[in-house]
Amino acid sequence: MFIPRINHFAMEFDWHQLTPYHLLATALVGLMAAWFVKHLMRLPKNLPPGPTGLPLLGVVSKFFGTSDPLALLSEWADMYGEITSFNIGTQLVVLLNAYEVVAEAFRHPDLQDRPRCRIKEEVSGCGRNAGLLIGVGQSWKEQRKFTLSVFRSLGVGKKSYEDTVAAEMTQLGRAIKEKKGSPFDPNILLGQAVANVICTIIFGTQYTYSDTEFQQGTKSSFSHHSLKSVIADLFFAGMETTTTTLKWFILYMMAYPEVQSRVQAELDHVVGRERLPGLSDGKNLPYTCAVIMEVQRKGAVVAMGVPHLASVDVTIRGYTIPKGTIIYPNIWKVMNSKNFWDDSDAFKPERFLSEDGKLTNRQELIYFSTGRRICPGEQLARMETFLGFTSLLHRFTFKKPDNSPPLSLDANLGGTRSSLPYMTCAIPRESTENLLD
Ligand code: HEM
Repeated sequence: MFIPRINHFAMEFDWHQLTPYHLLATALVGLMAAWFVKHLMRLPKNLPPGPTGLPLLGVVSKFFGTSDPLALLSEWADMYGEITSFNIGTQLVVLLNAYEVVAEAFRHPDLQDRPRCRIKEEVSGCGRNAGLLIGVGQSWKEQRKFTLSVFRSLGVGKKSYEDTVAAEMTQLGRAIKEKKGSPFDPNILLGQAVANVICTIIFGTQYTYSDTEFQQGTKSSFSHHSLKSVIADLFFAGMETTTTTLKWFILYMMAYPEVQSRVQAELDHVVGRERLPGLSDGKNLPYTCAVIMEVQRKGAVVAMGVPHLASVDVTIRGYTIPKGTIIYPNIWKVMNSKNFWDDSDAFKPERFLSEDGKLTNRQELIYFSTGRRICPGEQLARMETFLGFTSLLHRFTFKKPDNSPPLSLDANLGGTRSSLPYMTCAIPRESTENLLD
């Protein structure tokens, strides 16, 4: 039945009408189909489950119709489980949707590379050794070790660095006070404070040439270029993330004034009105710390983490992750999944408190990722967040300006998951006038 029809078609078809373009197009389609079949045959059978996409395009089209890509990825996580895979174009992507699987994968030594970022490689002139954030292999290891040891020797994130960060937060408070309670967008002021802290790390201390750390640096993967790359990475990775975090804090406090009042009451009780809060107060401020954790959970500033790349074929949870696969930790899902978090959509700082009011940590709160590439700025960011949040709330009450549009807790998904622009009024609290300047 079918064969005679083809014969009939072949006889009826006017083959003289075929132009070279037709032939070329047919050859191209044939080649693409052959490539696609070969590509499919090469893929291992036990890839993590996931949505099927179109040949060559993968699931790209599914993102076109959605205004909330995180919700779509979250749906896939609910449908396919803790580890899912799909193609974006011809690139295989694996998504890790649960804490245990992120922890297992990101501990694995062969899942620590980064996808290539040609622009950064070109700009830095260092190729694949371009700094810490996208560096791979031995040079990444050396640059990470170097950065962490510089942080350690400066006491970054430790008690000895507290004064530097606290001084910056006092300066921030002063600038906010100058607004005299009138509406302002906190973005620029917060950004300046965060940038200044990173500046003190990078430019505030001089190494001597005899310093062993410095000498090791010059022998190995370190060049003038790669050092510049690391510095650029610290600004890039540390600026927007921390500023965005502080912006979420102010926004959530405006949206939940009763939470703001309770934090202020705890600060007044523990710290008193004679001084600003310090790091050592943290252990006596369980509610305040729970609020910080809940804003981190809801804010999920680096919602999809920073992608890793499989350097060889790796098996995780019985699934093969082939060499060259890009792996994303779905940090937002891990911190917001209905399976792990009771009433996950709600803003409920109490979820981090035990019945007797003690702070309880949750391993699923992977705000800074986890494993071998975990954020090296974590301690610094934690210090800035704690000192920034507590000192601002000790001095001011943040209020939505009258006649301003309703507050939105929706997010913009760009480099970070950030709040939509907003204005705030910082009303100085009583009895802070002379005591805290
Ligand atoms: C609230 C603020 C911050 C958040 C939420 C955050 C989050 C993250 C996350 C999720 C990663 C990816 C880890 C991975 O690949 O698995 C990362 C990497 C990184 N972060 Fe942060 N970060 C913050 C602040 C900072 C600060 C203050 C610095 C430095 C001053 C910094 C420097 C870096 C660097 C250099 C990397 C790359 C590490 C590597 O590839 O080995 N971050 N951060």
